[in-house]
Amino acid sequence: MKQLRTQVGIVGAGPAGLLLGHLLHLEGIDSIIIERRSQEYVVERVRAGVLEQGTADLMTEAGVGERLQKEGMRHEGIFLAFEGARHRIDMAEATNGRAIYVYGQNEVAKDLNAARRASGRSLTYGVDNVSVYGYHSQAPSIRFEAQGELHEIACDFIAGCDGFHGVCRQSLPPEDVRIYGRTYPFAWLGILAEAPPSCDELVYSLHERGFALFSMRSPKITRLYLQCEPDEDLLQWPDDRIWEELNLRLQTSDGWKPNTGHILEKSVTGMRSFVAEPMRHGRLFLAGDAAHIVPPTGAKGLNLAASDVRNLSAALGAFYKNGKERLLMEYSAKSLRRVWKAQRFSWWMTSMLHLDLGANAFDRRRQIAELDYVTGSPAAMASLSENYTGMPLD
Ligand code: FAD
Ligand code: DHB
Repeated sequence: MKQLRTQVGIVGAGPAGLLLGHLLHLEGIDSIIIERRSQEYVVERVRAGVLEQGTADLMTEAGVGERLQKEGMRHEGIFLAFEGARHRIDMAEATNGRAIYVYGQNEVAKDLNAARRASGRSLTYGVDNVSVYGYHSQAPSIRFEAQGELHEIACDFIAGCDGFHGVCRQSLPPEDVRIYGRTYPFAWLGILAEAPPSCDELVYSLHERGFALFSMRSPKITRLYLQCEPDEDLLQWPDDRIWEELNLRLQTSDGWKPNTGHILEKSVTGMRSFVAEPMRHGRLFLAGDAAHIVPPTGAKGLNLAASDVRNLSAALGAFYKNGKERLLMEYSAKSLRRVWKAQRFSWWMTSMLHLDLGANAFDRRRQIAELDYVTGSPAAMASLSENYTGMPLD
């Protein structure tokens, strides 16, 4: 067995693992990152696209925001559409200048990979059979296989940044973990299309046929989502049917609708709310999707991964600088307070904007009243804007 040694062993090279590795590097702390998938798979998979103001600031302060500043699209507002009309919410006005940045998770992954390579610290893709040991002792370890050879990392701490299906949370004895969650009776069919965005900002729409979302990735690429069944069969969705449905759900009476074009990618994403508490188990720390999942309607998943690892890197930084464990002790409770606010917001956005077939006529009228209130009341717009652009990191 090949023996390796580092300060922090990081499982998973999604946004949480890569950003944690980078923030630790800036603190002078060594880490080894291991990832099950190939680098190409991690970078190419189409996922999140919205960075909160605080996530964008964090990347910039950490020296990995150069391309984000150039190519990221700053949006100061969003539209909510219902009953045939689009209503703009001016988030910057409501929050004293805060905004969101449309910048694909793929681009974040590319920037963080480049920073990792430049740091010269270890990052290995395509590892197998990862397992974690001894996290209730002073000397935890991680075992894995790479190119047919067994490896063991001896470390001071393990960071479980391995996503919802990862091994770290699932290695914990069930009696040590409190699980909170709900699943939703719908999913999103998402597409990426070669079509210039027909609106400068995102449009979240509730239509009598269901939810739809207009987003983008660049001046040439549109990203769109449709509410569908959790077990929706993509084979039933040829391109023409997708465009027809998107047009029905998104077009507004002022004549606006998305531009159409060649569809580059299609996928179905299930929706759930999930929290596993606590986020610390001895010397094993969970971060990002490994500890919590939100339905995508609030655009919070990637941002929570970033705020978790900001807390964790600060706590590990303080520990290595002066031996103080206070921030490590506080990591779980501090992160969870922010996680739960994002859970509440994501659940609320999801319930406000999706067609629930179990709902009765009263519920539907109440849903429209809610959208009418949110798009008409300065207090309600301020609340949505504060949450959408991101609650404070501290
Ligand atoms: P992940 O990105 O899942 O990374 C975990 C990594 O660990 C993976 O690369 C995985 O391969 C690896 N791994 C798993 N098991 C092991 C193992 N045993 N050993 C080694 N490695 C392992 N969020 C937003 O903020 N805004 C959005 O607009 C948004 N839109 C989304 C749209 C879609 C369609 C989807 C699917 C998600 C969206 N999200 C969004 C959520 C966001 O993508 C996730 O929250 C984010 O990727 C979480 O990062 P993470 O690093 O915690 O987990
Ligand atoms: C995108 C995804 C989301 O979940 C969301 O709420 C807004 C935008 C996107 O992929 O662009």
